Amino acid sequence: MIEAPGPMLSSMVSKRRETAFAWARAHRGVEREVDDAALRVLRGTAPPDLRGTLFRCGPGRLSANGTHYRHLFDGDGHVCRFHFAGDGSVRFRNRFVQTREFIAERDARRALFRSFGTNKPGGVRRNAFDPIFKNAANTTAFAHQGRLYALWEAGLPHRLDPVTLETLARETFGDRLLDKENAWTRIAGRELPFTAHPRVDPRTKELFAFGLSNGPVQRLHLYRADASHVMAPPEEHKLDALYFVHDFALTARFRVLFLCPARFDVVRTMLGLATPVSGMTYEPSRPTRIWLVPRDKRAVEPIVLEMPACFVFHHVNAWDDEDGNVRCHALRIDSYPELPHPYDTDTLSVAPSKKAVPFYTEFVLDPRLRTVRAKRRFDTPCELPYVEPARATSAHRFSWATATDPQSPMQVFTRLVKFDCAQSTETVREFAPGFPGEPVFVPRGDGGRGDDGWVLSMGYSARDGASILEVCDAATLESVCTLELPVTVPPGFHGCWTE
Ligand SMILES: [Fe+2]
Repeated sequence: MIEAPGPMLSSMVSKRRETAFAWARAHRGVEREVDDAALRVLRGTAPPDLRGTLFRCGPGRLSANGTHYRHLFDGDGHVCRFHFAGDGSVRFRNRFVQTREFIAERDARRALFRSFGTNKPGGVRRNAFDPIFKNAANTTAFAHQGRLYALWEAGLPHRLDPVTLETLARETFGDRLLDKENAWTRIAGRELPFTAHPRVDPRTKELFAFGLSNGPVQRLHLYRADASHVMAPPEEHKLDALYFVHDFALTARFRVLFLCPARFDVVRTMLGLATPVSGMTYEPSRPTRIWLVPRDKRAVEPIVLEMPACFVFHHVNAWDDEDGNVRCHALRIDSYPELPHPYDTDTLSVAPSKKAVPFYTEFVLDPRLRTVRAKRRFDTPCELPYVEPARATSAHRFSWATATDPQSPMQVFTRLVKFDCAQSTETVREFAPGFPGEPVFVPRGDGGRGDDGWVLSMGYSARDGASILEVCDAATLESVCTLELPVTVPPGFHGCWTE
């Protein structure tokens, strides 16, 4: 005889079902582009002293032209613009990024390109020996010195008009991102990859970035552009083995890169039997290498540190401390995470043994002794961390991130968390069965001690059955107001705030 679940278990199951349903609703895809619509306030009052613009980027749709993308990273890039006028009104605009692949597939009404996690329909016949992957332009909306970019880590940035969101150009920084020398990239399009996570020095306004070229030998390209967008010739390092690098950090002296050990099945991927994502495996038998690359000298060898294998997708911040060490705050994972399938809500839950959980970790890196000390600072599993860009390269006290319920098997980040490094305290706000997106901190005035202001998070409200922009008090995470979007938008990945 099967017993009925008790009330507590029944409530947990119901909550999981509701979250899975909300996830599916949020990811059904953007149905239309909207021009400058006033956002409806569902609850609270939009702060009249908040003035500026939030940009968000993510996969706007996860199926197109009859093809269902099989991975969250494959959806066509889409950018939202939220303009806070400073009088309590908020206006919204959204656009798909007009990449040449997006336009070609729209005109052909069928899939023409491979993606990170999805091959073209037609099997080996249509995918073998096709080294061209779609630039999805779907990861980060990034502003630098008056310019706005939609970024995807394996291709060129797309420059957008910051007011209309019109796609203006495939950015090569004066041809610096064109690879004229290498035969492999000549075959694969001659364009150098550019990370979705550039860093800007708040003092000099210089932009630092990297790109990882895959091929028979992996190459790491390091970029640097001045405040006028003039890029120096890229530095190139050939890597001794295969690694995964998604993000990096910047101090006043160093670029800090965590090279996480991975293996890519290049043969099966080139034969069209695998995708780059399905052909990648974590190799914990190899160490994670941490590169400290001096910032202000060209063509110098990096200082290489080693530690037992771990994965780092995202860094919070880094700085040089008074002892000559580099302090790097990053989210450490013990293995490569299994990401939920865009449509298969069963994949939202995984067994605890398979759950790759990111924890906020402080790494103390000694460039002279080449040692690494790692210490977990907070116990809430989290992702998509955000620190105020003005605090980059110097010690910060506060940061924010999305977080999961440690008791839940769900992979969905249903919480926001605020970290206070000075007090070693965490503040958590629950959104389940809905979920928030990356929290973007906006200071009020000079930001006071560092958490005086707001946190803006685009997410999905199951209660309202709509995509929302939640404005929180940055200190307490309490709701200031909830704004309803006129279209449903997947929460996406990364964004930025501009005055
Ligand atoms: Fe990222």
